Amino acid sequence: MKVCIMGMGYIGFPTACLLANAGHHVVGVDVNTAIINSLHEGQLHIVNEEGLAALAQKVFSDGSLTVCDQPSRADAFIIAVPTPFKHSNDNIRERIFRPEASYQADLGYVISATRAIAPFVQPGNLVILESTVPPGTTEEVVVGTLREEGVDTSQLLVAHAPERVLPGNLLAELVQNDRVIGGLTPAAGEAAAALYRSFVRGCISITDAKTAELVKLMENTYRDVNIALANEFALVCEHLKVNAWEAMSLANRHPRVQFLRPGPGVGGHCIAVDPYFVVEAAPTLTDLIQTARRINRRMPLHVVKLLHELEGNQPVQRVAILGASYKADVGDDRESPSLEIAQLLESEGIEVKVHDPFIARYNLPLEDMLRGAEALLLLTDHAVYASLDPNWVRELVSRPLLVDARGVVSLDNWCAAGFQVKILGCGQQLVMV
Ligand SMILES: NC(=O)c1ccc[n+]([C@@H]2O[C@H](COP(=O)([O-])OP(=O)(O)OC[C@H]3O[C@@H](n4cnc5c(N)ncnc54)[C@H](O)[C@@H]3O)[C@@H](O)[C@H]2O)c1
Repeated sequence: MKVCIMGMGYIGFPTACLLANAGHHVVGVDVNTAIINSLHEGQLHIVNEEGLAALAQKVFSDGSLTVCDQPSRADAFIIAVPTPFKHSNDNIRERIFRPEASYQADLGYVISATRAIAPFVQPGNLVILESTVPPGTTEEVVVGTLREEGVDTSQLLVAHAPERVLPGNLLAELVQNDRVIGGLTPAAGEAAAALYRSFVRGCISITDAKTAELVKLMENTYRDVNIALANEFALVCEHLKVNAWEAMSLANRHPRVQFLRPGPGVGGHCIAVDPYFVVEAAPTLTDLIQTARRINRRMPLHVVKLLHELEGNQPVQRVAILGASYKADVGDDRESPSLEIAQLLESEGIEVKVHDPFIARYNLPLEDMLRGAEALLLLTDHAVYASLDPNWVRELVSRPLLVDARGVVSLDNWCAAGFQVKILGCGQQLVMV
């Protein structure tokens, strides 16, 4: 098949490579010409993904994948563009306290990508929406926009094929994960499944489009609620002088209990966003989901509170934040709680330096970031931070204060190096067993 993929990001680009490798002729389209230009120059914009560079080189050199900034005729179109929520210009505190039911999905990218393919769509074509969207979007927005553009949609096969991949392990998960595909008609579901079967080894379940849209939102909402529960227990443990990390690891020995990890908040463009799409669809029916969002949204305030408890009556002026990314060992700072914590501190007049080895604009020499800092906030559990030598760090900082919001440092080692340490969730000054 000839396949045209709209959006060459974390999802669209590796999917394009896999489809090309499976024998399809793939055109990858992105409105960001910097991405297209760098791909033309052989530079990948997605790094630290095992096997992706080699696969991309193969499919570019055999001509099965080409990239450009305009769509063209194809047998199948895949839309993999961003679906954030609409951001407000409020200041950081107003944003944190914004009511959950006021969030709305920003479907502008989906609409413009759909408009862009409309002139090229032919009867019999397959149109697949991969982006995570509120329930009903495939039918109301994608089909609706194509109709507005004059396309006879009764002749099309339209489906939703959501993604479940983990950044950092994209290629393996795209191939191995089970998938849910929802067709607007059974024939559309079958046709979309047949295309994905050309590279997916996991099980593909076919359902209707709205169910597939909701399944994807349910998965990420489940994780958000679980993290909120872990965060709530972290606060309870601090209050009760119990070590939450030890308590949760013991609770997880129960065969049917699986707490996710507490932390400084929930980031990324999936778990921190998708629950709002459910709330928007059913605002009066989503108390638990809204409460979980509220708990996770407010964790950055708690991290700032831990810092203020640690500084006592000598307020710090210079803070170094370790980690801008929302999760370990990947370079993605979308909706990252680290950046919110930086803004909260800056709003108090504190000078903040942010370090992250996975994000170019924060990848300055660690030594320079640490030198003269009066407090460290460890906010992302990158392996490189967990293995820092506290004695080396002690030589650089001007005051030995550490808040670990990920529960990764050894309290014994850091205290032995002279640090005063607060570990989020750790009311008891004990090392995790
Ligand atoms: N990244 C993940 O791990 C992941 C996992 C599951 C689901 N998703 C969902 O997949 C979708 C895409 O996410 P992503 O991480 O690939 O986003 P991304 O930001 O990495 O990439 C999206 C790309 O689309 C391009 N784009 C925007 N408008 C366009 C248009 N009109 N035409 C062509 N290109 C356009 C952007 O320039 C960008 O390069 C989102 O809905 C996301 O929620 C992502």
